[in-house]
Amino acid sequence: MTIKKIELLTSMILLVGITACGGGEGSPSTPPGATSTESAATETTSDANLITAAEITLGEVDPGMVEKGKTTYDVKCQACHSTGPNRVVGPGWKGITERRKPEWIMNMILNIDAMLESDPEAQKGLEECLVRMPNQGLSNEEGRQVLEYMRTL
Ligand code: HEC
Repeated sequence: MTIKKIELLTSMILLVGITACGGGEGSPSTPPGATSTESAATETTSDANLITAAEITLGEVDPGMVEKGKTTYDVKCQACHSTGPNRVVGPGWKGITERRKPEWIMNMILNIDAMLESDPEAQKGLEECLVRMPNQGLSNEEGRQVLEYMRTL
């Protein structure tokens, strides 16, 4: 009886742990008493090569680009990302373009190392998933096609 209860509890905790990684808008996990002295300093240096909002134009969803983006997904991303809400190794992509800015997504795809160095949200994702997203070596164009595909999810 009690053992059953414990089993149930453990699986519930596991479930919560798994879903925690998928969401983009969980409450900030700053430990009590922590100070945020870093936020201002990180803006300038290593962010220099990151893609900015001005470099991305989103018009009507382009079916040709979506198709190419999906192909890239099948080959290079599917092993770790679902297109649903559930986490595989990294977060699921369902609704990702609603919770993340396009330039943030592009930088996660193309500049993951710089992001892990300077972006608090990227660092949080690493903490939650316990795996570093590897750079998949995509071109700018391929990254943009994946973004277009994400817009359909
Ligand atoms: C080996 C596993 C792996 C592969 C392959 C992989 N990713 Fe990831 N990805 C991750 C992990 C783990 C995270 C969470 C890490 C983080 O946020 O720092 C992540 C995070 C992301 C995020 C941020 C998601 C969010 O909502 O926080 C995007 C966007 C992303 N990956 C895109 C891609 C694309 C595009 C590809 C294929 C070209 C790809 N990933 C391939 C493991 C992977």
